[in-house]
This record gives sequence, structure tokens and C-alpha cells, in this order.
Amino acid sequence: MKRVYNFSAGPAMIPEPVLQQAADEMLDWHGHGMNVMEMSHRSKEFMAIAAEAEADLRELMAIPLNYKVLFLQGGATGQFAGIPMNLTKPGDKADYAITGAWSKKAAKEAEKYLQVNVSIKTDAHTGVPGIADWDLSADAKYVHITPNETIHGVAYNDFLPPTGDIPLVGDVSSMILSQPIDVSKYGVLYAGAQKNIGPAGITVVIVRDDLLDNQRPDTPMVWDWPGKAEAGSMLNTPPTYSWYFAGLVFKWLKNQGGVETIYEINKAKAKKLYSVIDSSDFYANPVEPSFRSLMNIPFTVAKPELETKFNQEAAKAGLKNLEGHRAVGGMRASLYNAMPMEGVEALIKFMKEFESANI
Ligand SMILES: Cc1ncc(COP(=O)(O)O)c(C=O)c1O
Repeated sequence: MKRVYNFSAGPAMIPEPVLQQAADEMLDWHGHGMNVMEMSHRSKEFMAIAAEAEADLRELMAIPLNYKVLFLQGGATGQFAGIPMNLTKPGDKADYAITGAWSKKAAKEAEKYLQVNVSIKTDAHTGVPGIADWDLSADAKYVHITPNETIHGVAYNDFLPPTGDIPLVGDVSSMILSQPIDVSKYGVLYAGAQKNIGPAGITVVIVRDDLLDNQRPDTPMVWDWPGKAEAGSMLNTPPTYSWYFAGLVFKWLKNQGGVETIYEINKAKAKKLYSVIDSSDFYANPVEPSFRSLMNIPFTVAKPELETKFNQEAAKAGLKNLEGHRAVGGMRASLYNAMPMEGVEALIKFMKEFESANI
């Protein structure tokens, strides 16, 4: 068996000990003679698995007690609609900051339900403008941001728009658990699982209690946050296996030392790769240094005709899925929590050799 370094933006690498544990538990979970995916979601065994995963996530993210944690389906894309349905009435207004492809999609979906005010819009998506350039509306029901733009590799880093009493809603799909997030600064956080949480299929929504009970009467049951919260996210059958798997990843992260520790490792990994890109005339990253993502690092080669060759030779060297998103081209290395430093070092070695051979 040979495992590769998988730089995919998602679904992405899962820590190997977690895959191994899931394999060990495949036929017989803890002496129960069945796999978790064969268990009723109402069984006491699964209820315990679900509760432990939530408790571990709360601990890892230091989620305050006045926030509910929901485990839903439909991905982050589902919440592009779920957010306006749960926080606004028809005719209401919300502010959307468009800093890349994902926030643009979120705003487009929201337009079906409410009046979208574009509070900021970047064209090249290479940074986040200072607050003086933002047009925040006094009557917005919420302000939506995407703190890490997965496709463009743009991150808010230390910047958050001051929204006062207007709740901030953050799509943290590609940065959840990679660095500390002050949950109390947000009204709602949401994330698809397939980057730092586990396999696709489960969506985490973290919502402050006072924002529940604003849902529209025609909100589908599966999107209705208060209903889901009331039922412990088990109003209908949840994605039980993904939930269990997320729980294994949370335990792994706790064993690594938690979010603070992984953040230091993530910073070190990203710094190494950016410094190789910046110190060469052959590779380039267009994002302003203070808004560079730790998780998704896009880069180009000086001669675009070499991109296919780069990707093919990298794949042969066991460095997979380095193609940039089809919307932007180039290359992109996603360095989620499960990507070890050795993977980044192997990529850097390959990049240097490729540069020497093709300059
Ligand atoms: C920032 C961000 N938001 C939303 C999505 C869409 O997530 P999903 O496929 O879970 O709907 C992605 C997927 O990559 C993403 O990176």
C-alpha cells in the first residue's frame, strides 16, 4: 500500500490514524457486532457517539454555552439558503462581503430570499479591503463573510468588520479547526465537513441562541434550525457515519494538542511554502501577504504552458490534486490539518526540481 500526499481542496486528506481506527471498527464497533453505519440513530450507542462528538467540538472551539451546535445535511451550500430562511423575512436586507468565489455564490443564493446589499466587492480577489471601503447597512439583519476563500486563497486573518449589534455570519468551511476562532464574535458559523472535519455529508452550524426562532413559516423541516436544535439534530436520520467519523477526527485533533497547537503547525507549513514561492521568479502567488490563506495556497508558474506538465509530474511523484480550481486555473495546494509537514516538504522539493529543469 502506498499513500500519497493529497493537496485537494476538499474532500481532502483525513489523518491516517483516524482512517485506521475506522477500518479497525468496520466490522465490529466496540464489541457490538456491527458498524456505526448500521446502527439506529436512536440507539443509545449512537446517541453517545453523537453527544461525544459535539462535546469535543465544543471543547476544541471553546464554543460558549449560549450557542447551539447543529449537525445537518446539505453542505455549506444548503446553508446559503438556510441562513436567509432562518434569519430573515421576505423583504429584509442582509449585507454580503464578496471577496471570492464562495461568498459570491452565497450572495447569489441569498438573493432568492431577501434584499442583498453588497457591502464590499473585490474584483481580482487578492485581499480584503479596509473597513473605510465597506458599505454596511444600518438595517441589515446580518452581515455575511467568508473568512477563508478556498478558491482564491484569500483569508481575513486578523480583520473582522465591526458590525455592532448586527450579527456576523461566517462561512468557515475551509478554515474551521485550523486556527482559533472567537465564536462570540459571530452570530452564526457554518461549515461543510470535507476539509478539516471529516468525510463529506455533514454540515456544522453553530448558532447563538437569541438568533433562533426567526425562521420563516415555510422553511423546510430539514433547514429549520430551531426544530433541528430541539431534536438534537435528529429530527430525521442524520448522516450517522459522517458524524461518527467527525468525532474520530475531533479526538485526533485533541490528541495533537488542540486547535492552538495545530495552528502553530499550520502557520509553519504555510510559511515554508509561501517563502519558496516568494523567493523564486518561476512561481507566484497573487494574494497580498497579510490576507494569505494558511489552508489554500494558489500559485502559478512563469510559463503557463508548463502547468499540465507540473501537475502530471507532481502526481507521478505522489503529490496529487494540485490543479487550481477550474474557475481560476494555475495550481493550488490545500494544507488542511491532516497534511503533514513532510507532505509540504515533499512538494517544495518537487517544486525546486521542477523549476531547475524547466527554467
Ligand atoms: C468556503 C466554502 N463555502 C462553501 C463551500 C461549499 O460547500 P459544500 O460543497 O459543502 O456545499 C465550499 C466548498 O468547497 C467552500 O470552500
